[in-house]
Amino acid sequence: MEALRQQLAQLRQEIDSFAVTQAADAEAFRIRFLGTKGALKSVMGEMKNVAPEQRKEAGQLLNEFKAYAESIYQQHLDRTTTASTDTGSGIDRSLPGSTQPIGSRHPVTRMKNEIVAIFQKLGFAVAEGPEIEDDWHNFGALNLPEHHPARDMQDTFYVQQNPDWVLRTHTSSVQIREMEKGTLPIRMLMPGRVFRNETISARSHCFFHQVEGLYIDEQVSFADLKQTLYFFVQEMYGKDVKVRFRPSYFPFTEPSAEMDITCFICGGDGCPVCKKSGWVEILGCGMVHPNVLRNCNIDPEKYTGFAFGMGVERPAMLKYGVNDLRLFSENDVRFLRQFPALT
Ligand code: DAH
Repeated sequence: MEALRQQLAQLRQEIDSFAVTQAADAEAFRIRFLGTKGALKSVMGEMKNVAPEQRKEAGQLLNEFKAYAESIYQQHLDRTTTASTDTGSGIDRSLPGSTQPIGSRHPVTRMKNEIVAIFQKLGFAVAEGPEIEDDWHNFGALNLPEHHPARDMQDTFYVQQNPDWVLRTHTSSVQIREMEKGTLPIRMLMPGRVFRNETISARSHCFFHQVEGLYIDEQVSFADLKQTLYFFVQEMYGKDVKVRFRPSYFPFTEPSAEMDITCFICGGDGCPVCKKSGWVEILGCGMVHPNVLRNCNIDPEKYTGFAFGMGVERPAMLKYGVNDLRLFSENDVRFLRQFPALT
């Protein structure tokens, strides 16, 4: 009994001098005194050597010791795991946790979203169509019959499997798909990827992105087209930007125009981007050709409409100061990381 008493006193001393500064020390403490092979267990094992009439007292001593060891352990645990600054381990627990890096929005997607958001304010809804198109949707219905010379305006990829299939050369094909549905009026924006057989360089690529717009209703006029595009330009490039329309030709619109804005790099003074002209072309547009409406079973006597199509890469290059188109599709993370996440 006396031996037991002494042993416990010694252990208490050991407990009191056991240095605990970090969580790992607290765990060592637990193992030493309270673990399955720890001091408490070994002292309990000695109960069998205690005379039966002294067992009750010995049991009490052991219980006291156990409660003491447990309470000290709890204190160590609280101190080492809740301290905001754990100097012992060199880890500052008040720092935010390490986060998983999340991807960032691709600059072309960001630019596309910006364009879409502006037209959404005017009530344009978004539609998409297939990238592999048939000849009718990409050309025929758009007033570009077979052998029409204007087909050469766009160098086309044909699909070997089926001579009627092409990789769409423009998003105007989605106009046809929307008009064919037969629900009028239509006020749609159609973003997407398009393909042309062009030599890849810093300024051109065999695929790129466009956003197409289409508005069909009764009494839609060229004035509506201009006003819509003025609104877009001001939202996108600021109130000071000036706009000019140049007559142009597209088989699917009549009349057709191309729209220029004052160069947003030099403000119109002339720089390499605008080739010293002070103007940059940003889109093609026009009033939907009556033949196109007829091809989609829309009565051109009752309905009129306007359409426009613009590229996404070029404004993105100007906005983000990207000087090589190829960077957009190479997926070099060093390039992509320069665009902040989630915009
Ligand atoms: N599809 C034309 C192109 O890719 C762009 C375009 C011009 C679309 C005039 C239109 C439009 O809807 O009306 O060059």
